[in-house]
Amino acid sequence: MKNIIIYISIITLISISIFIFLITKKDEVKENKLETLNHIDKKVPYFNKSYTNRYIKYHQQKKSLPLKSVIIHVNIGLDKDYYQSTTIAPNLYTNKVLVNKYHYLEKNYIPPNLVEVYEGYSKPGMHLVKEAANHYRKMAEEMKKNNLTIRVISSYRSFDYQQKLYDKYSQIDGKKEADKYSARPGYSEHQTGLVIDIDNEALPYERFGETKEFLWLKENAHQFGFILRYPEHKEFITGYTSEAWHYRYVGKEIATYIKKHNITFDEYCAMNL
Ligand code: DAL
Ligand code: ZN
Repeated sequence: MKNIIIYISIITLISISIFIFLITKKDEVKENKLETLNHIDKKVPYFNKSYTNRYIKYHQQKKSLPLKSVIIHVNIGLDKDYYQSTTIAPNLYTNKVLVNKYHYLEKNYIPPNLVEVYEGYSKPGMHLVKEAANHYRKMAEEMKKNNLTIRVISSYRSFDYQQKLYDKYSQIDGKKEADKYSARPGYSEHQTGLVIDIDNEALPYERFGETKEFLWLKENAHQFGFILRYPEHKEFITGYTSEAWHYRYVGKEIATYIKKHNITFDEYCAMNL
């Protein structure tokens, strides 16, 4: 009997020691992480203190990701599922408005200064915010001088129009598949009036990535304030399969920065909170 009591006491003591050891260790790891993050805080201007726990959690899931990328991804919202806890698009009514699977436009959001896109470089009845339309025309003219052809096939789309499109695609392919290439109503950048889908008149728009027009735009679109919004290899950031035909007007300064650093508009916004 005496032996059993001694045995139980020893086991209990060992268990308590292991438990205390593990708790301390966990706190130590957390402390270390916080220290690193506090250090980063001083160097990384887009570090957001209120997201500290989310940074730590995301970092634990993506151990090989550099801390700066951890911060950028969490700032975008990538630690959460698409279309969960969404907020209204920041920078409404400006060239910097951010619309993605985390930020939406209200049903009644209609951009100001919508004008019809010059028909020489567009299907009829296409509308864009005036500044974007002017810059598009300049870009298309410059391309024409280089014997290149582009044409707008889709531009501003209202909430209701996007609803019809998304519903149609969902019926054909199912919601899960449609979500990969079509925005839900309120979540389409087309509603900003700053976006164009283009083709070269010769090939279907889905094959725009194979054209010399695409290659020219890759080098020059930024000079006219446009970016390729959903590039290849960035699908996990943008939330969409790549679209060689979809360009977004952000203005020359931001477009140049995005091209130079090979980032997406989502990343740019996450770094410029
Ligand atoms: N195809 C893009 C993502 C849209 O529907 O706005
Ligand atoms: Zn598009």
